Order: sequence, then C-alpha cells, then structure tokens
Amino acid sequence: MSNLVPRPLSVRTLGRRASLSDGMVVSSDPACAGVADLLANELESATGWRISRGGPEASSPAGTVRLRISSEFGGGAPAVRAGVAGEGYRVPAGPAGVAGEGYRLVSSEDGVEVVGAAPAGVFYGTRTLLQLLPADLHRAAPPGPTGAVEVEGVEVTDVPRFGWRGVHLDVARHFFPKNFLLRLVDLASFHKLNMLHLHLTDDQGWRFQVKRYPRLTEVGAWRRESPVGHYREGKKDGKPHGGFYTQADLAEVVAYAARRFVTVVPEVDMPGHMQAAIAAYPELGNTGKQFEVLTTWGISEDVLNMEESTVAFCSGVLNELMDVFPSPYIHIGGDECPTVQWEASERAAELCRERGLAGPKDLQGWFTARVAETVAKRGRSLVCWEEVLDAGAPAGCVIVPWRAETALSVAERAAASGHRVVMAPEPWLYFDWSYADDPAEPVAIRPAISVEKAYSLEPVPEGMPAEQEVMIAGAQCQLWTEYVATPEHAEYMYFPRVCAFAETVWSSRERSWPEFEPRLAAHLARLDALGVNYRPLAGPTPGQARVWPA
Ligand code: ACM
Repeated sequence: MSNLVPRPLSVRTLGRRASLSDGMVVSSDPACAGVADLLANELESATGWRISRGGPEASSPAGTVRLRISSEFGGGAPAVRAGVAGEGYRVPAGPAGVAGEGYRLVSSEDGVEVVGAAPAGVFYGTRTLLQLLPADLHRAAPPGPTGAVEVEGVEVTDVPRFGWRGVHLDVARHFFPKNFLLRLVDLASFHKLNMLHLHLTDDQGWRFQVKRYPRLTEVGAWRRESPVGHYREGKKDGKPHGGFYTQADLAEVVAYAARRFVTVVPEVDMPGHMQAAIAAYPELGNTGKQFEVLTTWGISEDVLNMEESTVAFCSGVLNELMDVFPSPYIHIGGDECPTVQWEASERAAELCRERGLAGPKDLQGWFTARVAETVAKRGRSLVCWEEVLDAGAPAGCVIVPWRAETALSVAERAAASGHRVVMAPEPWLYFDWSYADDPAEPVAIRPAISVEKAYSLEPVPEGMPAEQEVMIAGAQCQLWTEYVATPEHAEYMYFPRVCAFAETVWSSRERSWPEFEPRLAAHLARLDALGVNYRPLAGPTPGQARVWPA
C-alpha cells in the first residue's frame, strides 16, 4: 500500500481516486498558508503546472488540495511539557506524541484534504501526499510535459510516536557547505524528522562565527592537514582544510528549517573538544602554550581552564549562539573531557579549594552549572552528552546517552532523576560506522550498522517503568565526519539508514523488518528522483566503493 516511509499509524483504502492537473489549486486556512505555499511551490517545480493558492473555499476543476487546521483532530491534543516551550517552536513531548504533529489525509474524487490540529501536522500530511504521487514528481523539474496525476483513494491517520526525531551532523571534523545543510533539512523533513543537531565546534575545527571573538574563525576554522585513510595508518594529506558559517548563513539555515518544521539545535562542545578555540585564544588553556588546530583524529588533552574569565568567554559565545539559533535547546556537549591537565595544575587545585570542590574531577560539574545559568537566563534548555550526568547535570538538562556500554543504563538513571532523554546509542545510531564489515565499503571508523540493524532500534530501554518512559523524548542518528569529507559521502552514510531510523521514531512500536524492507526498496525510487547518493541495499556501486580520496 503506497509504500509510505515512515509508516503511518493507519491507512484505509477508499474506492475513488483524486486527480490533479495543470490549473489545480492548493486551498488553505490562513493559519497554514505557509505550508500551502511551500507545497504549491514544490508541485509547480515538479510538474511545470500553474498552481493557484486560495482561501479555504477555493477549488478548481483541475483538482483541489485543501489544507485545514481543526482542533477536533485528535492526533494533535497538546502534550506540551512545562517550562520548555520556545517561541514559535513545537515542543517535543513524551512517547504519546507531540502537540500538533498528527494529521489526517483523505484523497477521493473530491480532491485531497489534509487536516491537522496545528500547521506542523498539516505539513507532515503534505509530506505523505508527496509520497502518494509518482516518484518522478520528486524531481526538481519535469523531464517532459506532466499530464493529469491520479492520487490513490486513501484515508491516512497519523501521529508521531516521539517528539525528538533528530539528525546530527558533525561539521567540525569536516566543513560542509551551507547548501548541504539546506539539502539535509529537505531530506530530513521529507522523512518527518524534526531536529537538526549541528556539532559546530571540536578540536579539529571551529565553524561558528563569533563577532566578539573573531580569532575563533580566523584561526580556529582552519587546520594545516588531515589524516587520510584510517587513522591507524598514521598518514596525512598535507592539505589545509576548513571553513565556517557566518551568522547570516546560519540564520538562513534556521529560517529555511523552521519553514519545514525542523528545529536546528546548535552544539558548542565544552569544556573538552576545545583545542581549536584554545589555538585561537591560548589564554583559555591550561599550559599557556601556543599550538595549532588539531590535525589528528581523537580527543585532545588540551581542554579549557576553569578560570572565571573562561566562563565569561563561553557565556559570550553562547549568547551569540542564542542570538542566531531560536531553538529552545542549546547543546553544550560535555563529552570526553580528559582531566589530566587539571590534575597536573597547581592553579586548578587552588580553584578547587576556593570553590569547595573535592578535586579536579568536580570541575566539569562546576563549569556546567555556570554555563547553564547563561542558557537558563534566555529561557532555553541545556542539552548534554551522557558524561554530564556523572560530572553533575543541572536540573532540566536533556541527557543524550550514546556510549555502547552505558547508553541504556544512563538513560534509566537520567530518566529516574528527572531528566528528559534523547537516545543516541552507538550500535544503532552512529551512522559513521560502515554498513558492513567489508573491504568494498568506504573507509569508516569501525564496522558495522546495517540498515536492518538501524531499523531494529527500540528507543525505550527494555523494561523501563512507565513513569520513566515518558522521559524518553525520542532519538537521533549521528554522523561524525572524521572519515566523511563530502556531501556525497555524507548522503551515502545517511541513506537509506535515515529512512529506517525515521520509522523507529515516527511509527508505532509494532513493526517488522520483513514488512519494511520491500517498502524501503520501493521508497528508493523517490531517493533516485531526489538525486540522493544512497547506498543500494545490495551494497555500494563501484563509484561509491572508494569515495575517500586516494
Ligand atoms: C561522542 O560520540 N563523543 C558524543
């Protein structure tokens, strides 16, 4: 049935089809006119038709797609959690679904009607409508004249299982052009994903323009050379790499994403993974030494010092970040922060004594609490990787469990102590791992997450009590980019695993790989039309097999 991905809650076949053709109209309530306009633009590009936009009463003999907001639609009962609403943004809730993201779509001889309790739901209904059209209509322009298009007669009722349906991209290890971020928003929202987490800074590069600290991008955005091949081989390419986004670039991505109901969650990783910043401003470090942006993969021991002046620096960065990103969630990383330099530092010992801390291992918790104040002052919620739960997690902080060995137990501990949780466990959701343990695959950090393995994710840890389960806001897939240097390669690593992931966070718990696999195979025709460099289910094409530069 229609091979929809992700699978809706229910699909019922109706007898009669809708027909759309040149001169059709998209009619809408004023509240969802933005969604109507987007859909009309997309259909115009795909078909070459002239499509009118009209108010709720508009219709056309050439076909009508009617978009409507109705509070009667049950899928949209607001499930907003206290204290996390951001202006104009929907709020990820618990597993019962999310305010306004559900919809009902009916196509029949009267045309197509999409009803949601809020514009977000109407938007997702239009994504389903696009999948009901022939795959060729996912092209940017029609290969020839487009005749009337039949839409099969169905009633689709749908609501997401989770509110946080995320895609993460590391733009620090390799810089990706702004246009790829826009493309990723298109592809993610097409699969009904709603969060784009940008990992903007790391030891190997700083990508976010900070006006008060220009050296962060003048110095921190560039590295002299990069590893080539697997890091174990110890080879370097001898070529400079870098780039950064201006604040205007990122504001553009945020606006583009908002129109597609995607929240862009920015991450500035601190107090570890900060070598690029310390290369730009050595006074942030512990040694006073001048060094360069890291040219190897792995974790630098050069972490931030814990002076008040460093907290002020980080607050300045976060305030500019919050000027650019309206997201209710601000990610401060907090993963993999070695304490060796603090342990060796007289000054760190003195700071611990002044602050009444038992020792250097308590410094990260102290630091996190301080930067959390900056984020809380602007009414935003903090997001941190799982390590912060041990270092000391501020109340209200969202925890992202990721390590293979600990993610499930961390999720339980975090939920039990009142933190919302976004699942990102490596063995299912680290899409920088190869698809198969096969030398035909491009070089990757390690094997292997097949599409079937990605599909087998169950975001709620087994046996979790109901009162904790509501704290699981959703999940996100990660693409770390030590081994991924181009948009084409990134698409390969994401797709079709992202299609499988989308179903784990959108669709109901009752699903099966044998039912999904043929549906996915049919869905790939849409990715073909969209020009996505996905990995075929049978394995890489000869051209994809060695995408890493020689
Ligand atoms: C991580 O993979 N260091 C979050």
